[in-house]
Amino acid sequence: MSLLTDDNLLYAISEGSQVLREFIGDAKPVAGIILGSGLNAFADGLEDLRFLHFGNVPFMNVSTATGHRGRFALGRVPGTDRQVLCMQGRLHKYEGNSALDIALPVWLMHECGVDVLITTNAAGAINPEFNVGDFCLMTDMINFTGQNPLVGRSPDLIASRFVPMLNCFDPALREIALDVAERRDVALRQGVYLGLLGPSFETPAEIRMFASWGADTVAMSVVEEVIAARHVGMRVMGVSLITNMACGIDGSDPNEDDMMDVAGTCEEPFARLMRGVVAAL
Ligand code: HPA
Repeated sequence: MSLLTDDNLLYAISEGSQVLREFIGDAKPVAGIILGSGLNAFADGLEDLRFLHFGNVPFMNVSTATGHRGRFALGRVPGTDRQVLCMQGRLHKYEGNSALDIALPVWLMHECGVDVLITTNAAGAINPEFNVGDFCLMTDMINFTGQNPLVGRSPDLIASRFVPMLNCFDPALREIALDVAERRDVALRQGVYLGLLGPSFETPAEIRMFASWGADTVAMSVVEEVIAARHVGMRVMGVSLITNMACGIDGSDPNEDDMMDVAGTCEEPFARLMRGVVAAL
């Protein structure tokens, strides 16, 4: 159950950012990185690691999804002087969170001086050219959740609710990711991401419809985070790990166990990509 409402949002941001600011101390994270299903290991490999559980941040909900640890992890990328503030796990709508609950940690990170958001997830590939185990850089997105975190009075008191969404994924950050992927030999595709509510997977008919809309990948997160970040002027990069072909694409039926297995085998190239990107920020 969420405690966060439109009425207490500004108070929640003020209270929550105090706790997060104290946790960050004199560190200067160059990016906030939301680590999706099975992608936690990147944060485990950081140096001088410290953790803050979501439950210790006022008004923040805890993660309940498999493979989502539900904590902030602050650390330094090995071999560099760059610190990053990770979320090991995120909040999804399908867990019962509101779009506002999902936006809150993004706004908290921004309040604490983080101005680049890298959001990552596991996704199904609608584009038949993509392969399981590839990464996909988001070039654009379709919000098919039916909700938006900027609905209500309070978001408009933080910044204008009418957020331009051209280039919601920052072109300069995308260039960095493509360059790092090429130099570090990581299979990085590019495509349009479609975020929906879940938690049931899609039907083949839905996937055919999304394909006709121009979507290349699909999953149950990210879009609310991107909207919240753009609302306060953060620059955003989005990366999916293709854990499966979307329903009906190759006859397979997506399931959570197979997805987590694929994510487990892709930790190393994911860390290689993320470390390279952070070093180049
Ligand atoms: N559909 C929705 N969400 C997902 C998928 C998918 O195929 N794969 C990983 N998350």
